[in-house]
Amino acid sequence: MDSIRITGGKRLEGQIPISGAKNSALALLPCALLTDEKLTLANLPRLADVDNFSHLLNGLGVSTKVEGVKKGEFGRQMTLEAKDIASTVAPYDMVRKMRASILVLGPMLARAGEATVSLPGGCAIGDRPIDLHLRALECLGAEIELAAGYVKASALKGRLSGGDYSFPVVSVGATENALMAAVLATGRSQLFNAAREPEIVDLCNLLVAMGGKIEGIGSSHLIIDGVEGLHGCTYSVMPDRIEAGSYACAAGITGGSIELLGAKPSDMLAITNALAAAGLMIEMTDNGMRVTADKPLKPLAISTAPYPGFPTDMQAQFMAMLALASGESFLEETIFENRYMHVPELRRMGAEVDVRGRSAIVHGVEGLTGAQVMATDLRASMSLVLAGLAAEGETEVLRVYHLDRGYERLEEKLQGVGASIERVSAG
Ligand code: UD1
Repeated sequence: MDSIRITGGKRLEGQIPISGAKNSALALLPCALLTDEKLTLANLPRLADVDNFSHLLNGLGVSTKVEGVKKGEFGRQMTLEAKDIASTVAPYDMVRKMRASILVLGPMLARAGEATVSLPGGCAIGDRPIDLHLRALECLGAEIELAAGYVKASALKGRLSGGDYSFPVVSVGATENALMAAVLATGRSQLFNAAREPEIVDLCNLLVAMGGKIEGIGSSHLIIDGVEGLHGCTYSVMPDRIEAGSYACAAGITGGSIELLGAKPSDMLAITNALAAAGLMIEMTDNGMRVTADKPLKPLAISTAPYPGFPTDMQAQFMAMLALASGESFLEETIFENRYMHVPELRRMGAEVDVRGRSAIVHGVEGLTGAQVMATDLRASMSLVLAGLAAEGETEVLRVYHLDRGYERLEEKLQGVGASIERVSAG
């Protein structure tokens, strides 16, 4: 298995191009199921999760064609076409690889009137149930059965009727599934306490570009008037705010200065506010934003929350950075239980962190030391890379497949700003 080897202690300086957002891409790709016309998605990140999702769609009868991949270029364009839905079953061996596979449920049900999707099963960062996805679809007129590890959903008379649903907890994925189902229902649907993440706005904008009728975009009250059919279009995936935030932390932890090309600061306010509170300087530039760390890092108190709050997907990276702040930081994880699995590994590199339930106290230390570490999820892996960039000596991050799920050409981007980082192939 490949690993990433880092020799730490280099100040990072230069520019990093920000890729298309993984979480947005995974919600836009299943929209191909909603129309028999061609959907072209540009600025798709080149990631294992995107490849897995397109294979899942291929199995349902969607053809996918990747265009315009030039050597040295980031991102790519894919044209998807679902003339007919060949199968309405998303099997276990596809869904187990990637939880986001559940996002085919809503659009398949809306287009074909039925869908059978394997239950995703356990996940390293908590139980992550899908009950809200199912309740929302029921309110839109679906009948749901659970049998043999599968969800079987069907629409009465072959088409969803639309309806109202109020989410008891904000859920990004369940809001996405409900939106994709409601656009082709016969009547009006309303979603209350819907997620407002920028990736949801990206999904709404694509659905509107395909002919969907949605009001309240960007708010927690979405009103969807179902239409008879959607058409194809060309749409560009939004920049990845979590990737941008992660590289901002790389500037912070190495005392560097990095311009994040293509980053969209207006989607990142909670992140940039936290960076500024930690003592980093944030400047808007013509091409994105520059993050500079020229003072000692200050400790922070951060609690994760749904957008516009501080994203849970940035908690691990901030923890790595705050391990070197001068003082005690307090972190609280309110979205997922069990999202501190990077802590024991950071400790092996010299970080001092106490965890009590959903809270963590980070006692800033003078320096970190390189070690062989391994992580259990994507963002945890990035926190170890960040720690490695600042640590004295060599760090080897194992289980690189987690990073490949969410960071497009990580080593290349970090080498470009002066990091000593390489992928070591296990042969
Ligand atoms: C998405 C993101 C993930 C991010 C998370 C929170 C994608 C592919 N993934 O995950 O990177 O960390 O949002 O911003 O976009 N919940 C339920 N029942 C459900 C659904 C969710 O109880 O049916 C709970 C979850 O366990 C969690 C909370 O709701 O505690 C929020 O989860 P949710 O927003 O649904 O996360 P995902 O969409 O899975």
